Amino acid sequence: MELLHNLKNNPASKFFFFGLFLLALALFFGVAGALQYLIPGLFKEDLSFEKVRPLHVTAAVFWIISSAIGAVYHFMAERNEKPIFSKTLLNIQFYLLSSSVTLILITYLFGIFGGREYWEFHPLLAIPIGLSWVLFIINVFKSIGSFKKLPVYIWMWMTGATFFLFTFVESYLWLIPFFRSNIVSDMTIQWKSYGSMVGCWNQLIYGSGIYLMDKISGNQKYSYSRIGFLLYFLGLFNLMFNWSHHIYTLPTAKFIQYIGYGVSMTELIILGRIIWLWRSSLTTAKKNYHLYSYRFLLSADIWILLTLALAIAMSVPAINVYTHGTHITVAHTMGATIGINSLLLLSFIFDVFKIKEKISAERFTFAFFTLNISLFIFWVALLVAGVLKADWQMHHPEILFADMMLELRPAFFVFFIAGTGVAIGFYMIIYKIVKHYRILK
Ligand code: HEM
Repeated sequence: MELLHNLKNNPASKFFFFGLFLLALALFFGVAGALQYLIPGLFKEDLSFEKVRPLHVTAAVFWIISSAIGAVYHFMAERNEKPIFSKTLLNIQFYLLSSSVTLILITYLFGIFGGREYWEFHPLLAIPIGLSWVLFIINVFKSIGSFKKLPVYIWMWMTGATFFLFTFVESYLWLIPFFRSNIVSDMTIQWKSYGSMVGCWNQLIYGSGIYLMDKISGNQKYSYSRIGFLLYFLGLFNLMFNWSHHIYTLPTAKFIQYIGYGVSMTELIILGRIIWLWRSSLTTAKKNYHLYSYRFLLSADIWILLTLALAIAMSVPAINVYTHGTHITVAHTMGATIGINSLLLLSFIFDVFKIKEKISAERFTFAFFTLNISLFIFWVALLVAGVLKADWQMHHPEILFADMMLELRPAFFVFFIAGTGVAIGFYMIIYKIVKHYRILK
């Protein structure tokens, strides 16, 4: 009852709860997929890897999107000290989004596909998602009020919201024969739109991160700072051009690829630096008062560093030739979506739900370290599997694929065990959130 009451008073938190539900599903299917690496053909009849992978990836991507929307709505209302423009639009947006994502997952279970990698669902289901996004844009812009002297996070939210719709539509251009008739331009557009979409949700998340950091500090240091706006403009440039590093293997102009990669790394360096500077400016009292959000922000910073190191290595063309199509790419993607995006989102959720005094510090610390240490081992195991596969791809094509996969088994075993640790860490944190949350007002 209390939950329903709170949801009614705080409509934006629906997006967080739906996000957490999707995260729980993503973890379940992630562990199932990792088990299928170890036992090829497991659950082949009803839940083959061809179903498990999209179930996992779609649930993971929409955990990020739904919670990022929740953060923007919640922080916008908090900043303006009044409710967002339209609760009705918000509710329609939520039901459109949540019912289409649920339908997508159900269609996967029945083996109904029709889309492309990452968006494997039937293209018809993209329509309600696109519509729900139109409502989001209206609500964000109408809630801003005065456009004078806006803080950087509002620019980030407006940009992320607007460009996402544009790139989402773009990712469906392949439905028009003109665009899919030429394979190189078809793939270029495809990867451009995916790269940009990630750039868009990063704008929503990084903007919320800056808002939260200033809120914890009790000042507006980064909201109007030069470094904050530098991050914004780099992010904007990045969401237009970072796609270029996805197409190293396509015959397109090299300079575009190098610019794209350079910018995406600079963006991470700046974000990492903001969190680091912010951390050193905080008093111990503030750190303790916002302990849980603070810890997630700090661990995201460490993951920014690790992701950067890997991204720099992968950007060297001679290395990229090797890493392409291996588990190194998966390590890069999961390192960023778990280590950076998911940890930042958890820091927002802990702040919004005011989970502080009720939660046991020891249990939280246990869950937090289980998650982070397992994630590091999980990531290293993927890198090792990737290096072994790259060696096979480039130097031992005479070895059968099945034999090569057998050689990767020890790395997959560690991946599975550590992945289970990641899932347990997350489940403990989800449980704490659902059990102890207490929403503003
Ligand atoms: C917050 C949690 C997670 C997020 C956001 C996430 C995200 C992703 C993403 C975006 C991909 C696509 C990677 C690519 O194609 O490059 C992926 C693939 C995958 N993930 Fe996760 N993941 C999470 C947790 C887990 C866990 C805990 C496990 C295992 C125990 C796992 C196992 C897998 C597997 C097996 C794949 C498929 C890789 C392939 O296609 O070979 N994930 N995940």
